[in-house]
Amino acid sequence: MKPDILLIEPMMPEVEAQLDAAYRVHRLFQASDPAALIAAVGPSVRAIVTGGGHGAGNEIVDALPALEIIAINGIGTDAVDLERARARSVRVTTTPGVLTEDVADLALGLLLATSRRICVADRFVRAGRWPAGRLPLSAQVSGKRLGLLGLGQIGRAVARRAEGFGMSIAYCEPHPYNDITYRFQPDLQQLAEESDFLVVAASGGPATRGLVDRRVLDAIGPTGILINVARGSVVDEPALVAALVDGRLGGAGLDVFAHEPEVPPALLTMDNVVLSPHRASATVETRRAMADLVLANLAAHFAGQEPLTPVV
Ligand code: 8YV
Repeated sequence: MKPDILLIEPMMPEVEAQLDAAYRVHRLFQASDPAALIAAVGPSVRAIVTGGGHGAGNEIVDALPALEIIAINGIGTDAVDLERARARSVRVTTTPGVLTEDVADLALGLLLATSRRICVADRFVRAGRWPAGRLPLSAQVSGKRLGLLGLGQIGRAVARRAEGFGMSIAYCEPHPYNDITYRFQPDLQQLAEESDFLVVAASGGPATRGLVDRRVLDAIGPTGILINVARGSVVDEPALVAALVDGRLGGAGLDVFAHEPEVPPALLTMDNVVLSPHRASATVETRRAMADLVLANLAAHFAGQEPLTPVV
């Protein structure tokens, strides 16, 4: 008998076909009544497959008494209660390593798009306004000061790219790393003051919740730009909107939000803001590599072996 799995968000069609071949897949995202689906299939579900943003809330996990493994198609574990999983001996796996370069690429893409007003220019040309008008000058990227909140794999990949732009690089972490030469700044507000671009590349969760607050946003300042490719929870979103409305912050390039897929309406009309719908790992190559890890973790687990990339 194929094990029952609960699929919380869609994956690539060919990946879903692979899942269908090996498992009885219950698709929560297609259910007209998700609670009814969980009530009906909950007792037999042995695995959850989900994304890093959606994770699996306790209301779902608690309704699955036969649950053995939560396979996250992503690296964020902030939307899964790891303690609860540990207490129930439910394994949790992620997809480390394979999405680093894509997320760093998008961070630089948002940084360039925001600073050089690429999306504004695109809208300007499409609207037929070029023959009759001119856009204001934008701000230079090369040679500027980059501050990184978080210097894990993704932060380091952003830094490597920024080196190519001749930027000076500093980072905020609880402790300095001695294997790199980037400047360590333990005080986030101070780092923001010393940066033209502050890039958020730290994990979500209680330790980082609201770290980028009004003081930090004011320290980035009216010519500075905030980039977030991590989690919306790291930034105090109402404070971010207020700083942009007041002109206390120069701009923002955002791939993540506090209450996805909701985006604060005030941001929709701002030319100094570039918005992306949580797409940093969304390339064919990377989503394929992530899915391969998800499939391998599930296969190992159901073969009675240790998963490849467990966090619990
Ligand atoms: C994905 C993510 O968009 O890795 C994560 O934690 O949030 C993203 O890479 C997501 O996991 C797929 O839904």
